[in-house]
Amino acid sequence: MNNKNILSEKEIRKQFLDFFATKGHEIVSSSSLVPQDDPTLLFTNAGMNQFKEVFLGIEKKSYKRATSSQRCVRAGGKHNDLENVGYTARHLTFFEMLGNFSFGDYFKKEAITYAWELLTEVYKIPKEKLLVTVYEEDKEALEIWSQEIGLPKDKIILIGDNKGGKYASDNFWMMGDTGPCGPCSEIFYDHGKDYFGGPPGSKDEDGDRFIEIWNLVFMQYNRDEQGKMHLLPEPSVDTGMGLERISAILQNVHSNYEIDLFKTLIAEIAKITNTKDLGNNSLKVIADHIRTATYLIKDGVLPTNEGRGYVLRRIIRRAIRHGYKLGCNKPFFNKLVPLVLKLMDDDKDISLDKRKLISNEILLEEERFFITIENGMSILDQAINDIKNKDVSMLDGEVAFKLHDTYGFPLDLTADICRENKIEIDTEAFEVSMKSQKTMARESGKFNTTKTLPYEGTDTEFLGYIDTYSSSKILAMFKDSNELKELKEGDEAILILDKSPFYAESGGQVGDSGYIKTKDAKFYVQDTIKIKKTYLVILEFLNLAP
Ligand code: ALA
Repeated sequence: MNNKNILSEKEIRKQFLDFFATKGHEIVSSSSLVPQDDPTLLFTNAGMNQFKEVFLGIEKKSYKRATSSQRCVRAGGKHNDLENVGYTARHLTFFEMLGNFSFGDYFKKEAITYAWELLTEVYKIPKEKLLVTVYEEDKEALEIWSQEIGLPKDKIILIGDNKGGKYASDNFWMMGDTGPCGPCSEIFYDHGKDYFGGPPGSKDEDGDRFIEIWNLVFMQYNRDEQGKMHLLPEPSVDTGMGLERISAILQNVHSNYEIDLFKTLIAEIAKITNTKDLGNNSLKVIADHIRTATYLIKDGVLPTNEGRGYVLRRIIRRAIRHGYKLGCNKPFFNKLVPLVLKLMDDDKDISLDKRKLISNEILLEEERFFITIENGMSILDQAINDIKNKDVSMLDGEVAFKLHDTYGFPLDLTADICRENKIEIDTEAFEVSMKSQKTMARESGKFNTTKTLPYEGTDTEFLGYIDTYSSSKILAMFKDSNELKELKEGDEAILILDKSPFYAESGGQVGDSGYIKTKDAKFYVQDTIKIKKTYLVILEFLNLAP
């Protein structure tokens, strides 16, 4: 194939949407990366998110078939690819998911035949390069692939829902812990013997030879908080194909990072960071992370120390560290925003003010981190050298904590550097340091009155040596020194129970955390302390039970 015949990423996206439009699908725009009114999701992680209520039968649309190219972030949350970026050819934290959806209209047969037609007749992928997985109990999908499509048996692999957890494959797709879900059938492309990896379900499935390109989910259930499955009002279809992965195939390259968009972006990063070797992994990490950072900020997330904002901070700081590794010791990352928006065709649609805001927020975060990165890195380099000299393979959790607390190194950033040096982190010791810092903060802050609680009732019977759960009675509730009669969602309080399995902080051991459920509410136990024989459970009221 000569260059003239190679489709650009934009053309591939357009062909997908046009194909499904000719099959009666409404073309729907990508929704925000911050899911609207859905506390179960950190970020939009799939094309179906914006249709969740339609699958559940709560919302009605004027159409029963839709298609979209949805911007997704898979970092933090249930589907998390952050740790894999820079290590594989296929993982990205930000990507576009091409999808077609049926809301109680067509089901398995059409979903499979449409996918096959698009791949083999429109995109003209040789059939012998494709293989599929089918949920092991799904006889219907198996029959469609073998009878209707005519795929040979050795190209159809049966996979379960990974309850045994042998390998990573899983043919039952769930959006999150709750919500619409169902068995799925995945289509894989074989990049050939030159690449390491085995077919799905084999021990080498994590290699980069067989790459999943399209997931066809046969939506049938709604999973509730207790894990119970309820049938959806009507069987439906949700599919997702990574635009970057299909582009790699159609552009005759192996890695996502070699497609047209990334080639241009990586060349620019190499220029800004003065890097000669275009294959340097840090360039890939920076290229992935600048798209994620740009679009998260565009959709209203800012770098902070909690929740979505903390995931964004981790992503930006990780990119900065890779720039630092390439020799940058002052802000560079923000300079890539205009090119990202141009490559994504958004430079005209996003207002100048918004574009400036995105660059400025990244610049501010860079300025903050560049103040401490050098000192932090020299501490970490020293610790890594010591480890290598002593022939051990673990970084002290206290060092990781100091880097986090004093130098603003998120734990996963330290882990990324350690991984490059084949070193692990003693995360248990890190958690202990983290917790004791929280305890100190609390003792000097809002819970400093625990030692003088006006409680004179019975002591707590401690069950922690024999059990990890119990049913108990609440004897009293306090906020500071005031006894409470009731709690509201979001409240933090101290509870005294008649019996409790929660171990209380003592003698250098940290207090237990966990959950308490009552008939109608759920609480998160942050910590447990005790005064003589009374155990104080410090908790947060999470929500009313559904
Ligand atoms: N929602 C399905 C996925 O993300 C298609 O894989």
